[in-house]
Amino acid sequence: MKLIIINGPNLNLLGTREPKTYGNTCFDDYFSKLQFQFREVELSHFQSNIEGEIIDEIQKADKNFDGIILNAAAYTHTSIGIGDAIKAIGIPVVEVHISNTFSREKFRHKSFLSAHAKGVILGFGLQSYDLAISSFIKK
Ligand code: DQA
Repeated sequence: MKLIIINGPNLNLLGTREPKTYGNTCFDDYFSKLQFQFREVELSHFQSNIEGEIIDEIQKADKNFDGIILNAAAYTHTSIGIGDAIKAIGIPVVEVHISNTFSREKFRHKSFLSAHAKGVILGFGLQSYDLAISSFIKK
């Protein structure tokens, strides 16, 4: 099983960015933990602050991975292009958020991605990523 985690804008700042909301662990440290925890899964990670690069990566993943775990961050609430990319590919996408976006500002309640995703996991802190990976593993 090959999965890719695609993270959007400002998630490169995890660890120092708004720690009350996003915690104080940087994603690279967390990713190493995930790789150990899910040794049976071939996990990759891509992060970009640029919308078009995220769309390119989603398109590329279609041929190279079994699924995508996508935290498009702020683009979740604005990007018809990322929503269309999810719709265009053949592999499942699980939308993830660290925070519970429904308990935050109203503009974060709207997602242009959820309708095209296989499922959505949010509000469990970084554990949202663990839960998303688990969702791909058949027991
Ligand atoms: C986020 C929630 C978004 O609203 C926000 O813009 C982010 C991170 C989350 O993981 O909680 O950057 O996707």
